[in-house]
Amino acid sequence: MDYELLKLEVEKMMSDKRYRHSLGVVESAMELAQRYGCDMEKTMIAAILHDCAKSFSRKKMLDIIEKNDLDVDEITYYETQLMHGPVGSFVAKSKFGVDDEEILSAIRYHTTGKKSMTMLEKIIYLADFVEPGRKYHGVEQLRKLAMADLDKAMIQAFDNTIKYVVSLDSVLHTDTIEARNHLIMERGKITLEYNSNELAKKIKEWIEDKNGTDVEIIDVKDLTPMTDVFVIASGSSTVNVKAIAEHVDEMASKEGIEPISNEGRQGGRWILIDFNSVVVHVFLEEERQFYDLERLWSDGKKL
Ligand SMILES: [Fe+2]
Ligand SMILES: [Fe+2]
Repeated sequence: MDYELLKLEVEKMMSDKRYRHSLGVVESAMELAQRYGCDMEKTMIAAILHDCAKSFSRKKMLDIIEKNDLDVDEITYYETQLMHGPVGSFVAKSKFGVDDEEILSAIRYHTTGKKSMTMLEKIIYLADFVEPGRKYHGVEQLRKLAMADLDKAMIQAFDNTIKYVVSLDSVLHTDTIEARNHLIMERGKITLEYNSNELAKKIKEWIEDKNGTDVEIIDVKDLTPMTDVFVIASGSSTVNVKAIAEHVDEMASKEGIEPISNEGRQGGRWILIDFNSVVVHVFLEEERQFYDLERLWSDGKKL
């Protein structure tokens, strides 16, 4: 599929402002795809097309739904804002010939989310919230969270959406609630029998075993429901960063503790190991300074 051609077609279908937003979503989605190892081409196509039906009138969308017998639930039918997801997915398929089910699903669910989303679906959903043109309160934090932990960022984005929709006295889609509950329940399955501060201190020792430096333990319990403690450390090279992460993994495993996610391993520039109540970041110094998590969580208590 020729992305440049898609871009030109999409540009014709919407206002300048919406087109700029779509390009912003491409930019953020590609950054996330690179970070998490998602298919770049699929990401680019889903991102540029995600709002392809957003400029359609309610009448036009209803016509498309009825003529093509699209499967649209009662809530979506009621709320015009939600219709461009399923209609956009149909347009992507019928007008642009997209036949990849995952791309079509990412477009379909980019406004509501749904239970058990794939990585591509999560990336498109989040990129829509954090693209460079977005300027709302808290966007910078969500941007960084999206790069650090995809699922936590999803929960945060669902929370924001739910609060916003309620503030508008509008209807809340059950897919959004199910998506949020599902992610939280998945994480909750990891019940930890040890104290998060103790585990963080052990992790600090394991990091230092492999010559990790500048290890900081930051207590963020009072700042976010997402985790209790961050452990942030630096490695001297990508090889060292990987060795530190592997050692932490191995030692934790010996204690019967398995991470719920483990990201960024190939590159070795920033590895995140998520033990749920303790989240470990091992950085190359350059990356550490750029993302500056310590500043982001500067209200946390250093332990
Ligand atoms: Fe949209
Ligand atoms: Fe959008």
